[in-house]
Amino acid sequence: MAKANENYLKLPGSYLFSTIGKKVKEYQEANPDAKIIRLGIGDVTQPIAPAIISAMHSAVDEMAVKETFKGYAPDLGYEFLRNVIAEEDYKSRGCDISADEIFVSDGAKSDCANIQEIFSTDNKIAVCDPVYPVYVDSNVMAGRTGTYDKNTETWSDVIYMPCTEENGFAPQLPSVTPDLIYLCFPNNPTGSAIKKSELQKWVDYANKVGAIILYDAAYEAYISEDDVPHSIFECDGARGCAIEFRSFSKNAGFTGVRLGFTVIPKDLKAGDTPLHPLWARRHGTKYNGAPYIVQKAGEAVYSRQGKKQLKEQVAYYMNNAKVIYEGLKDAGYSVSGGVNAPYIWLKAPNNMTSWDFFDFLLDKAHVVGTPGSGFGPSGEHFFRLTAFGTYENTLEAIERIRKL
Ligand code: MLT
Repeated sequence: MAKANENYLKLPGSYLFSTIGKKVKEYQEANPDAKIIRLGIGDVTQPIAPAIISAMHSAVDEMAVKETFKGYAPDLGYEFLRNVIAEEDYKSRGCDISADEIFVSDGAKSDCANIQEIFSTDNKIAVCDPVYPVYVDSNVMAGRTGTYDKNTETWSDVIYMPCTEENGFAPQLPSVTPDLIYLCFPNNPTGSAIKKSELQKWVDYANKVGAIILYDAAYEAYISEDDVPHSIFECDGARGCAIEFRSFSKNAGFTGVRLGFTVIPKDLKAGDTPLHPLWARRHGTKYNGAPYIVQKAGEAVYSRQGKKQLKEQVAYYMNNAKVIYEGLKDAGYSVSGGVNAPYIWLKAPNNMTSWDFFDFLLDKAHVVGTPGSGFGPSGEHFFRLTAFGTYENTLEAIERIRKL
């Protein structure tokens, strides 16, 4: 008889953004006239830039011609894309990463979730608290997290690294030694960033204790300060302890198109085992790969026109971040983030819980955000707003919140 994977049954509730989606849908059904503004999930709103659309059109046309038709993509992704990534994202920043260390995929979300499969289920993970839920959820499904405590909303076998007002939402090195350390900078959900010298401390620590850092750099396009690193491979010794995830979702508007990549240095090992060949065998090599048309779109991201148009798009969202940050600060809210990241992290007023503030905002201002406690216990009493809305909606949402 077939048996279900019991680890899935340990997951509390549904995925954070599904819970929010359900709540908003119910509210809209009960209040059909409410003009709801969604600044919850970090989903982009601006159309894909013309240079990228044009590359996709050409790739579609190639598919219609016998001589240029493409079937399965190569396992690691097309060389034209991996070469340009290696050059533009790594070599130009002084990082020693080559094209054959880049694995193109259908997005950072699946890679962040699947990466744990190449590690032993005995490995102990450390995560920031609050944290993007995918890291913990995927480890729960793999049976690596122990038991769930409903009161503390924590897992017995996970090392939590609190990111609080006191530490500027930047985690401290853990007191218990982990095997795998998930880091995301610029951070989702707090919008915080760390300097290269601080990231170097993590790399030195990981090399010392033999841990691997799983580094999510999905928001690197939003970095505005010079001393904030775009890649963990800017740090000395990172090739010996780090895997990096990148996404085209937030910088190029591909949340629906799906494209990302993972960098695994060829010499990176867990114990004595090289990890590059294991990821090459991951399930989904063929299924998770991105289609030719999408990889051509990815290549256009690095073209002269593509870069110019995407810079404008990032500036558009960061202007929204400024509208949110300054509008809320002016209204007396305690706010952070929004400088190197498209997320603003605010404190719920009057010591409200994050979910009470969620309900309050939805009901009184018809604005949707994300409750901080949904990202982990240290997120309680905090709230995330995304800068990915339209400018008009962002302005309107902040006006409504200011009037409360
Ligand atoms: C978020 O809102 O945290 C992100 O959009 C989720 C994601 O990128 O998967």
